[in-house]
Amino acid sequence: MPRSEVAYLDFSPEQSKAITFASQTIADLGGPEAKGVALQARIFADQLEQALSEEQRALLQRFSEGQLSALMYRQMPCANEPIPEYLPDISALAQNPRCQYLASRNQLLLELVRYRSFAFDIDNDGKQVRLVGNFKGGGRVPRLDEDPCLEVETSSHAGLRLGPHTEAPYNCSTLSTNANSPAPSALILTARWNPANEPTNVFPLREIIERLGSLDTLALTSTSFDFTRSDCFAHGQGNAGKAVSMLQFEPNGGFSVRYNSYRFSLNERACSAAARAFDSFQKALDNARPLAFVLQPDSALLINNSRALHGRDMVQDNRRLLIRQFGYSPFAVPLVLAEDPLLVRG
Ligand SMILES: [Fe+2]
Repeated sequence: MPRSEVAYLDFSPEQSKAITFASQTIADLGGPEAKGVALQARIFADQLEQALSEEQRALLQRFSEGQLSALMYRQMPCANEPIPEYLPDISALAQNPRCQYLASRNQLLLELVRYRSFAFDIDNDGKQVRLVGNFKGGGRVPRLDEDPCLEVETSSHAGLRLGPHTEAPYNCSTLSTNANSPAPSALILTARWNPANEPTNVFPLREIIERLGSLDTLALTSTSFDFTRSDCFAHGQGNAGKAVSMLQFEPNGGFSVRYNSYRFSLNERACSAAARAFDSFQKALDNARPLAFVLQPDSALLINNSRALHGRDMVQDNRRLLIRQFGYSPFAVPLVLAEDPLLVRG
């Protein structure tokens, strides 16, 4: 019987208190964007690890070794706060103590699986923390300031549906190639507000790949696929890609996938076997039922960006605000531009 692709780690009240203290201390030091905070998060994660049960440690280890598609941390209660009438301005949110606290907790929870929080130079203004919310329109209900004639970008700063994808860049996983750092090994998400309980969808890929024929699987490892540039990259930076693979083996026996349902297409020189494989993969994905995770401030979701796709439906309640960071596994070798906080070439 194959082991489950997802796991839940429920903290005890004692453990949760320690997490609150550590997260608040990290936030008071300036949060994930501040120098020295990564080391402090590492120290707190080591202390916290001592207080975990053997079972909890085993779950963390499974994620660390890349054997899980997703790990949800639960039972981290936060003080209640009212839900505002409208989503506040993004620059005010970035400075907000509650957002800082949740981002600091994300960093601690990344360190628990020994992943390093980092940012790309070309994405999100080089910031570690991404606020995921409908700031630019495209949700089910228009924003007050929304111009219905303007085209909305397909990114996590808008309200559009985001089909299944791994996070960019799509050039490589784990090791850098051609002056590109690898895709994030993982992302971690928590919610500040999610009044309509809108889920984050996760599509574990092991089963989908195992169901493909062996020749299809092999064809996905060929450099037969193109991708378009991400809308969230800084102006004039980050490129579209040509002739990349979607799937690769990893030295630890696992695999990595790079794919985006709204950015990937078949390269013009792809052979018919690659075309068939691409088609089969997309059909299998269309028929896959995602796992739905509803985030609230008392939970956080780690998604393995090599082993699972994620996505979401159109935003229903514009006050939904998620807080996201990227993490590199101990196996990832990025092109480092600054060590602390970790900034890498995109
Ligand atoms: Fe995403």
